Amino acid sequence: MCGIVALIGSREAAPQLLEGLRQLEYRGYDSAGIATVHQPQQGAAALHCLRAEGKLVNLTARFEAQGAPGLCGIGHTRWATHGKPEERNAHPHLDASGELAVVQNGIIENYRSLREQLQASGVLFRSDTDTEVIPHLLAGQLRQLQAKGEPASGALLLQALQQVLPLLQGSYALAVVWAQTPAALVVARRSAPLLIGLGEGEFLCASDTPALAGFTRTILPMEDGEVALLTPLGIELYGADGGRRQRSPSLLSGTEQVVDKRSFRHFMLKEIHEQPETAALWVARHLPEDPGGHLVALPFDEDFYAGVERIEILACGTSRHAAQVGAYLLEQLAGIPANVFYASEFRYSPPPLSAHTLTIGVTQSGETADTLAALAMEQERRSLVADPSFAPRLLGITNRPESSLGRLVPHLLDIGAGIEVGVAATKTFLGQLLAFYGLALAFAERRVGRGPNREQLKTLVVGLRAMPQQLRQLVEEHDRRCAELAHRFESTQDVIFLGRGINYPIALEGALKLKEISYIHAEGYPAGEMKHGPIALLDARVPVVSIAMPGKVFDKVLSNAQEAKARDAQLIGVAPGGKDTEIFDLLLPVPEVDELLSPLLTVIPMQLLSYHIAAHRGLDVDQPRNLAKSVTVE
Ligand code: AGP
Repeated sequence: MCGIVALIGSREAAPQLLEGLRQLEYRGYDSAGIATVHQPQQGAAALHCLRAEGKLVNLTARFEAQGAPGLCGIGHTRWATHGKPEERNAHPHLDASGELAVVQNGIIENYRSLREQLQASGVLFRSDTDTEVIPHLLAGQLRQLQAKGEPASGALLLQALQQVLPLLQGSYALAVVWAQTPAALVVARRSAPLLIGLGEGEFLCASDTPALAGFTRTILPMEDGEVALLTPLGIELYGADGGRRQRSPSLLSGTEQVVDKRSFRHFMLKEIHEQPETAALWVARHLPEDPGGHLVALPFDEDFYAGVERIEILACGTSRHAAQVGAYLLEQLAGIPANVFYASEFRYSPPPLSAHTLTIGVTQSGETADTLAALAMEQERRSLVADPSFAPRLLGITNRPESSLGRLVPHLLDIGAGIEVGVAATKTFLGQLLAFYGLALAFAERRVGRGPNREQLKTLVVGLRAMPQQLRQLVEEHDRRCAELAHRFESTQDVIFLGRGINYPIALEGALKLKEISYIHAEGYPAGEMKHGPIALLDARVPVVSIAMPGKVFDKVLSNAQEAKARDAQLIGVAPGGKDTEIFDLLLPVPEVDELLSPLLTVIPMQLLSYHIAAHRGLDVDQPRNLAKSVTVE
């Protein structure tokens, strides 16, 4: 949430800052700003700050008109937490003298009391943000240090920041420039990501890797509590205790390509079309013809599987829906009790501790604050128990192995879907589902006798190997079909999505996709639950999308669909064609497969229906209002 960039070197900073912000715009896009420090050949250096409400193009236009010279600068693209999305709340925020500028991603939880103290001492605030306390606090600290005769320098700015940070509660990643030090900037992080990219005689700091990928592949991820001073000559890194730290940089893996829409109208559509490839890569990696005596090849040794008696899964949003499918598979295939929790709820009301438990965090970005905090909390409370059967066993499922999640957990399943830019998750959802199929099969084959036999598991593997081809056909077909249908939803205000069993989470995901990008109210329900209340909502104006795939609950779902039809609802079936499914007014056909594999297919019409309804309404599909791709605040 919110993207930040900072650059120092020997070239004009603003163009690179704007390019970095372009790569980070998916993190927030209600306003943007940059501040640069320019040292003219003669005279004092000066700070240049440009800010604009709305998308980055507005800031770019302002830069083209006004310029922002300087070899050192910071930038920000905002997702509003405190204060409306207006220019006066856009970052950077300045101190009263206009010499200090700060960008921040996170939340300063105690900003109210800090603000009151500053106001009492005469400071005037120009925004409603939590961030604005930082430049004012820093300015006060610098004044005190300079009053003792300390000359302005990068070291002084660093010292002032180190004195201010303990006053801040909450999570943040921030960057600061000061007109009095045109060849220095300082950055800091606590519980929010920040990485330093090492270029040739220049350094770029950013809150996420896409901003770095086009600049350098040599990176230094900052660790929690660290502060750094960046000059054109190098980096000085310090821990929260003030001690100097030395660490070797690492290389960005190949997945963080500079993002490109190709010929697609939106990133979301491109990413939906990339799903067959996501599945093909996953099959090639994890279901090779000879995975060494096992059915599935996962990067874990036997100790990882041994003695797991319970699984708890923590996730948010779409990742949580993938986790629900995962829990179904782990229980039904491997016979391991599995529970899914909203990460944001788990942290404050965790269940009683259970022994021999594997905790899985699912987050495509690897940066979702709620999921990371819940995992860290679980790790800590388990570490405090003397009985070794309660010891933490953590696994992360992510698309970003280099993320904070990657540094938090000892075991990682990288879904390898390639960067996803559309705010609405699509190919990463499919990747997460596939990760759970792999995991459930791997546990199941080690626990044969408690669930399906090995032959049944082998049949599922054959089905999974066929997925890339089935997905290819399905995506093409439904792209056309949903584009033709979209106009029928012009005046729709509510949609109900029904599913049962393993397809219930897909109904939830269908509803979430539609809400996120089309702003149509949508609810996902277990089909059998409709008659216990929600059926009261139905009439001819409320379409009902029913996922009816042959298997255990096929007849039940069809009966539930009939109940909706009897209330005049327009029925849309996500189901195979044939006599049984003639009850549907509209059919989004999906080929019949083993019911356990069906979510991999039924999600496709859900994604494409939502996409085309939103695109037909002319909405900003990739950057829907109020949302951000990666939610790094609690
Ligand atoms: C997905 O379409 C949403 N934008 C959102 O629900 C998302 O899945 C959620 O914020 C979790 O993100 P994560 O997977 O990066 O943790």
